[in-house]
Amino acid sequence: MSAKGAYQGLCGIFGCTLINGSAAIIIHEGLKKLEYRGYDSAGLATVHEGKLYVKKGKGKIDEIHRLLNFDDLPGHVGIGHTRWATHGAPSPQNAHPHSDCHGLVAVVHNGIIENFHQLKEELEAKGHVFKSRTDTEVICHLVEEGLEEGLSLKEAVKRALLKLSGSFAVAVVSPLEPDKIVCARKECPLVLGLGENGTFFSSDLPALLWLTNKAVFLYDGDLAVISPQGYSVERIENGEPVDRAVELVSWSPEQAEKGGFPHFMLKEIYEQPQAVRNTLRAPRSYLENMCSVIEGSSKLYLVACGTSYHACLAGSYMLSRLAAIDAKPILASEFSEWCGNLIDEKTTLLALSQSGETADTLDAIKMALEKGAKVLSITNVMGSSITRLSHVYIGTQAGPEVGVAATKTFTSQLAILAQLSLMLGLRRGILEAEEHRALQEALLNVPKVMDFCLGNVGQLVKSIALRYAYAPSFYFLSRGINVATALEGALKLKEISYIHAEGYPAGESKHGPIALIEEGFPCVFIVPKGEVRGRLLGNVMEMKTRGASIISVAEEDDEEVKAFSQDFIGVPSGLPEVLSPIVYVVPLQLLAYYAAVARGNDPDKPRNLAKSVTVT
Ligand code: AGP
Repeated sequence: MSAKGAYQGLCGIFGCTLINGSAAIIIHEGLKKLEYRGYDSAGLATVHEGKLYVKKGKGKIDEIHRLLNFDDLPGHVGIGHTRWATHGAPSPQNAHPHSDCHGLVAVVHNGIIENFHQLKEELEAKGHVFKSRTDTEVICHLVEEGLEEGLSLKEAVKRALLKLSGSFAVAVVSPLEPDKIVCARKECPLVLGLGENGTFFSSDLPALLWLTNKAVFLYDGDLAVISPQGYSVERIENGEPVDRAVELVSWSPEQAEKGGFPHFMLKEIYEQPQAVRNTLRAPRSYLENMCSVIEGSSKLYLVACGTSYHACLAGSYMLSRLAAIDAKPILASEFSEWCGNLIDEKTTLLALSQSGETADTLDAIKMALEKGAKVLSITNVMGSSITRLSHVYIGTQAGPEVGVAATKTFTSQLAILAQLSLMLGLRRGILEAEEHRALQEALLNVPKVMDFCLGNVGQLVKSIALRYAYAPSFYFLSRGINVATALEGALKLKEISYIHAEGYPAGESKHGPIALIEEGFPCVFIVPKGEVRGRLLGNVMEMKTRGASIISVAEEDDEEVKAFSQDFIGVPSGLPEVLSPIVYVVPLQLLAYYAAVARGNDPDKPRNLAKSVTVT
């Protein structure tokens, strides 16, 4: 079954300009260290004696190397790429490096060029011939135009980059200027390495540490020219030279992989603004494909396990509120028993799975397919089983999540669900254009709000976690869409700190759970401003009068909630309630993380759990 939409853009790029020796052997090794960033195809280009040499193919680096032998590419200068498909399926034609019509340049790129359709049309109208279906290839032809007009490689690249919207880490070589590489970045990582035998660039620092501990971190909007003797940096927008200092890195390769954070989980929590920002770039056409399938169906189920199921809960609320669509969230492991007899050709299953390999979710999908249902999915792993089983799938742009506890994949899933709900709301006439515009703007602003939140609450949440780390039990309570956040907060705490925790709809607590409350029992309340706040305050008081310790997550200027709380975690004000889980979950992830560390647990590898659960 072929999927009609695929979106993912991680990819790794690596290259070097050497004083002497084989660039290809070094790049080949560097790419292997970046393979975690993508492994559906790979390739290398070198420059030697006025000519470009390119080898590329589909598959893992080792497989392609066995067939083509990367290492015999000649020359001291070259670039390489390991790909995770965005535009264009994995294939030798779509593998990087790409080149122009006349072999003047080779380009590797990580990121997404949002206006590539328009640029491609313009270039084709001028006679350029495209060999791939990638967005990247427009860069080659744009640079080619500049070179043919007599610009230097640096100027031609700079002019090309100014025409792009979207994100990139890009590197370009040309036999016209054979001893240099021009590279640049915007919202995708790129770091330079300075060694005894030359200068290197890489998507990340760990892939450089076997060569050198001298690194130069480029900023967004920087363009660098590297040569065997060194580097220079300037701004893309105006060519102004800038000083980017050489930093001596004392990290071990393992520390560097964690970006200096003590654990992957903490790194991944802090990566969330970028993960959500990237995810929000999902091309409209993929969302539109999903909308059409949903609009054509009479029943919609949101199916997943664990954290992904909590995203389904929030998604069902979003679809109801924003698009008046009745979407039933259901745990994959319960799906066939509860809904098996209800599935027909008019049914759609929207399955969520960060790994794309969760056996319960795959089983639910297979059962639905057998009965003729349509399957949509959202996953973080392109090429995973779920992508092969789905009619339409969208990839979250969270990058690899190593910590067993899902964090950035959860908030990225929520971002796609919000986009989908907003699009459906507009198409179905549930949202007025103005209301849609305001919500869309608020959604695009979420990464910034997450950034502020992370900047403000880290130390505070750590101190709260230290005080409660040995509490025997916790409640997480809210109403409306943040019941999903409460459940997720409880799951996070349970799975890595091993403290018993329950998430509950706050209105339900008086029907049983309140019986457990005694002096000092920690109750975490998620209290956004909005519809549910008034009734939630009543629930806070019910718990407080029975002695519970109230830890609240609320808008930073909510003095009333602050007054009720022993511990108050303020998040930036003004977020629409329907989007609030994407930000409000962040302090809860931190709470779980710091509680786990305080108890001496390894949050990255909690006992009894696995990153992908491939048994039913
Ligand atoms: C999340 O922190 C858990 N590790 C777990 O609940 C997970 O969400 C669940 O197993 C589903 O995984 P998936 O998203 O890869 O399908």
